[in-house]
Amino acid sequence: MFEIIKVANYEEMSDKAFEVMKEVVANNPKCVLGLATGSSPIGMYQRMIKDHKENGTSYAEVTTFNLDEYCGLPKSHPESYYSFMHRNLFSGLDIKEENVHIPEDGEDKEAKCKEYDAAMEEYSVDIQVLGIGSNGHIGFNEPGTPFDIKTHIVTLKESTRKDNARFFNDNIDEVPTHAITMGIDTIMHAKKILVVASGANKADAVAAMINGPKDVECPASVLQDHPNVVVVVDEAAASKL
Ligand code: F6R
Repeated sequence: MFEIIKVANYEEMSDKAFEVMKEVVANNPKCVLGLATGSSPIGMYQRMIKDHKENGTSYAEVTTFNLDEYCGLPKSHPESYYSFMHRNLFSGLDIKEENVHIPEDGEDKEAKCKEYDAAMEEYSVDIQVLGIGSNGHIGFNEPGTPFDIKTHIVTLKESTRKDNARFFNDNIDEVPTHAITMGIDTIMHAKKILVVASGANKADAVAAMINGPKDVECPASVLQDHPNVVVVVDEAAASKL
């Protein structure tokens, strides 16, 4: 079930998304957050940091699980999702490093996937933040991914690598070819899902998520079956609804 909140632009989207997030954290200081990287949630993360600094909202007891990580990039690489999350959110909060979970690449990839699933099994995610790919991916679950899958290794689609080349000197060859991602099954277990989407390049994916058939070709369309999804979209991203 979708609650769709349409706003004018990225700043308003970030304000609204922050409100939804803040309610969860304020109601339960020990909540479990599912987090995303990418451009879409950065404004919300900035507001979380501001609120922590100005109002003292504490994340000391909060646990987080990120959606995904590139394969083949060291944690210290500025574009690893480990670096992204510390730079854009964790360094500004009082969160404890031991409560932060980000999928990790490793020699035994199968074992790394199982490890992440096992860590998540002990928790229940209160709110999962999702951006949406221009091809409808959620996490790095690309079109064609089965809906019943848990943490797995993916080959990134060329369109996704093109979209993300902006973070790699606009050079697609520098964008990793593989990633480790939380699966759709795990995402669907979150109690609440918050989708943030901004910009005209998301309009087709947003329309397919909400009004299209539920089909693996648009992974986000699986959210039609989730009981509690808040979608915060700006005008451009909502233009095909
Ligand atoms: C990020 C992630 C991806 C992004 C999506 C949108 O952890 O899993 O699904 O949310 O690619 O990216 P942006 O927000 O950069 O447009």
